[in-house]
Amino acid sequence: MCDFWSSVLLMTGRFKGAPMAAHARIPDIRPTHFGCWLHLFQQTAIEICPPEAAALFIAKSEMIAQSLQFGIAASRVELPAASAADRSVKLSDGARRDVR
Ligand code: HEM
Repeated sequence: MCDFWSSVLLMTGRFKGAPMAAHARIPDIRPTHFGCWLHLFQQTAIEICPPEAAALFIAKSEMIAQSLQFGIAASRVELPAASAADRSVKLSDGARRDVR
């Protein structure tokens, strides 16, 4: 976590993880959880950081939480069919015709 925040705020490149994948694989994660997480994070940042640093942590945490939520939502929707066969129509003689 220290490496993560070091990379986010100081751009040190120390963090080598994959936060999107780590959160997308939590099956029950919901927007309300992010609300709680952000609230606790904000309280802690205000408690332990000087005001300007707390404001930076909080702003970044909100941006990252939003991007994680978009990524999680996108990973859960059913994507449209990509193959030509799935874009064909069935003709009266039983043959299929590509409609792209
Ligand atoms: C609903 C709110 C959240 C929950 C329940 C949650 C839970 C978790 C869990 C269970 C892991 C371990 C995943 C694994 O190793 O398989 C994890 C990793 C991590 N989380 Fe969160 N998280 C939340 C929000 C956030 C937010 C908003 C941030 C960033 C601002 C964040 C940053 C990270 C990072 C950097 C890791 C390490 C990822 C890695 O090792 O590649 N999390 N989180």
